[in-house]
Amino acid sequence: MKITYNYDGKRIADVLKRFGVEFDSFRIETFQSGHINSTFKVDVRSQGKAASYVLQRINTYVFPNPVGIMENIDKVTGHIRKKLIAEGEDPQGKVLEFLKREDGTNYYFEDAENFWRAYYYIPNTITYDQAEDPDVLKNAGRSFGLFQKQLCDFPMEELQDTMPNFHNTPVRMKNFFATCERDPVGRRCEVEEELRILREHEHVWSQLERQREEGILPLRVTHNDTKYNNILIDQDTGEAVCVIDLDTVTPGLCAYDFGDAIRFSANFAVEDEPDTSKVGLNLMLYEAFASGFISACRDFCSQTELESLAIGAVTMTFELAARFLEDYVNGDKYFKIHHPKHNLERGRSQLALALDMMKKISQMQEINCRCAGI
Ligand SMILES: Nc1ncnc2c1ncn2[C@@H]1O[C@H](COP(=O)(O)OP(=O)(O)OP(=O)(O)O)[C@@H](O)[C@H]1O
Ligand SMILES: [Mg+2]
Repeated sequence: MKITYNYDGKRIADVLKRFGVEFDSFRIETFQSGHINSTFKVDVRSQGKAASYVLQRINTYVFPNPVGIMENIDKVTGHIRKKLIAEGEDPQGKVLEFLKREDGTNYYFEDAENFWRAYYYIPNTITYDQAEDPDVLKNAGRSFGLFQKQLCDFPMEELQDTMPNFHNTPVRMKNFFATCERDPVGRRCEVEEELRILREHEHVWSQLERQREEGILPLRVTHNDTKYNNILIDQDTGEAVCVIDLDTVTPGLCAYDFGDAIRFSANFAVEDEPDTSKVGLNLMLYEAFASGFISACRDFCSQTELESLAIGAVTMTFELAARFLEDYVNGDKYFKIHHPKHNLERGRSQLALALDMMKKISQMQEINCRCAGI
């Protein structure tokens, strides 16, 4: 849900000062691409020296526990930074670095609705909403895989579960089925076919959660929002520079990070394409992402985990289909819509993608085995 924030430059500059940044002059730009938070680039000059920061106002409707989120982020980025240093690398620009206030916190509560954080701007980078170049997508895959690898020895018990059941697909399905039962705005009749298909595929979308409960798949520290536009890419080289948007980092399954990335970046069409005949899994882009991701995580993942990745893609796609459809049946309360049938179309579009993935599942598995050398 996007909450429009009409910003006032002077006020934003004052917020930056709360993080201990002193300057003589400033210039502010807004980032258009974010859908959740309000993000600003602030260029400052102090005694002739220039520096750039990102200032972000957290959407506290979507993230009701922002302090928990920032405490998690502090630990996770600290862990990655230490690891990079131990490996002889300079962490600057490879992991987000948040500014701390005098009291040691990495956030500023201006008032109940305005929760802020500030971090260093990473220059010469860009984010993409759609994958066009398979080499760049492969780099992004490696970077998301590396993120998990860097955190594979992180003490999980130190993480707060700031979004319980975020990617618990059976719980998401249960919510959808329950909302259809209640049918609060009389729209259930429009999703009967989708409801039937989702029920019919329970054995598919419930598999990973069952394997997790049985201890077959381990919980890992996962990003949980592995969209292509959550990786900063070097504008000149196409290298993936840094994973961003760490609000959703919590314990999860490796397959969920892999799966959500595939759902978003290896579709022939955009996420809300209304013409479902255009929707489908692009195996060339799938292979590009998979080869990067698996090259980074094959050393620490078990064979069962590597084999679960393709099902992760189908599961994440069924899950999002159910979330869009649930919102439609519930009267469009969560996702921002641009026209009355938007959530219905999004749900149908994701369902078409999931069904196309089901047809290609053995090819997806083959690609993954080849990438993993199994
Ligand atoms: N450290 C950084 N250096 C350079 N650019 C950045 C940095 N952090 C964020 N950005 C830019 O700001 C945009 C929004 O950031 P972010 O993904 O954190 O916001 P968001 O509102 O959570 O986004 P969304 O909801 O779309 O995932 C990014 O797409 C990127 O272009
Ligand atoms: Mg983002």
